[in-house]
Amino acid sequence: MSFDLTGKVALVTGAGRGLGREIALGLARAGALVLAHGRRVEALEPVVEAIEAEGGRAVPLPFDLGDEAALETALNWARSHFGPVTVLVNNAGARDRRPLPELDRVAVRALLEIDLVAPFDLCRRVAGHMPEGGRIVNVTSIAGPIARAGDAAYTAAKGGLDALTRALSAELGPRGITVNAVAPGYFATEANRAMVEDKEIAAFLAKRTSLGRWGEPSEIAGAVVFLASPAASYVSGQTLAVDGGYLSHF
Ligand SMILES: NC(=O)c1ccc[n+]([C@@H]2O[C@H](COP(=O)([O-])OP(=O)(O)OC[C@H]3O[C@@H](n4cnc5c(N)ncnc54)[C@H](OP(=O)(O)O)[C@@H]3O)[C@@H](O)[C@H]2O)c1
Repeated sequence: MSFDLTGKVALVTGAGRGLGREIALGLARAGALVLAHGRRVEALEPVVEAIEAEGGRAVPLPFDLGDEAALETALNWARSHFGPVTVLVNNAGARDRRPLPELDRVAVRALLEIDLVAPFDLCRRVAGHMPEGGRIVNVTSIAGPIARAGDAAYTAAKGGLDALTRALSAELGPRGITVNAVAPGYFATEANRAMVEDKEIAAFLAKRTSLGRWGEPSEIAGAVVFLASPAASYVSGQTLAVDGGYLSHF
C-alpha cells in the first residue's frame, strides 16, 4: 500500500488559495508535479514558491474556467511540456448565495458554468489522454446530499458534480481510471470569511458538527492524496465527506 505520487502530474484547479492551495501542497508533498491552476498567474506564484521551498515541483497554469479556448490551450501546453495529466482535481468553484427569486437563468447558467460545466469539460479533455491508473477527484460539498435555504444554484451544481463522479466512474473504470469526490464541510477559508466572522453563525455551525469546530483548510489534503494514490486503487465512484462529522450528526 502506497501514498506515494512520485512521477504523477497533478492538475489542481483553484490552487491559488483556500482548499485548492492545501490540496496542491499535499499532492506535491506526496511527490507529484503540480500544475497549479487559477485565473491569474500572480495569485499562483506564492503557492508555486511554497511548494518549491519544500523541495517539490509546481508550475502555474492560469486560465479562466469559463473560457473554453484558453482551457484547451493551457491543457495542450501542459501536455506538451509535462506529458498527460495523471491526477485531476476539480477544486475551483464559485457560489451565489442569492435567494431563489433573484436566481434567473443568467445567474444559474453562470454558476453552473464554473461549478459543473467546466469540471465536466476538464474531465472529458483530461481523460482523453489519461493513462491507466489515472485519478480524478472532484471537490463537491456537503451541499450535494443536503441543503440550506438561499443556496439553490450551488446545491444543484454540487449535486450534479456528485452524480457526474458516479457517471464517470462507470464510464472510465474499464480504462483503469478511478473517479471519486471529496465533500468538504465547513472550512475556514476566505470564501467563508463572512460566516467565520459572524460569531453566532460560526458557533451554530461548529455545534452542528460532531467534532465541534470548523475545519482547517489543511485538513482537506489527506483525503485527496489518499484518493489520488495507489492506496485507493480499488475505490471509485465514491464521495468522501471531509466534514468533521457534519453529515452524520443529528
Ligand atoms: N470552504 C468550504 O468550507 C467549502 C465547503 C464545501 C465545498 N467547498 C468547495 O471547495 C472548493 C474550494 O473552496 P474554497 O473555499 O477554497 O474556495 P475559494 O477560496 O473561493 O477559492 C475558489 C477557487 O476557485 C477559483 N475560481 C473561481 N472561479 C473561477 C474561474 N472562473 N476560473 C478559474 N478559477 C476560478 C478561484 O481562482 P482565483 O484565485 O483565480 O479567484 C479560487 O482559486 C470549491 O469548489 C468549493 O465549492 C468549500
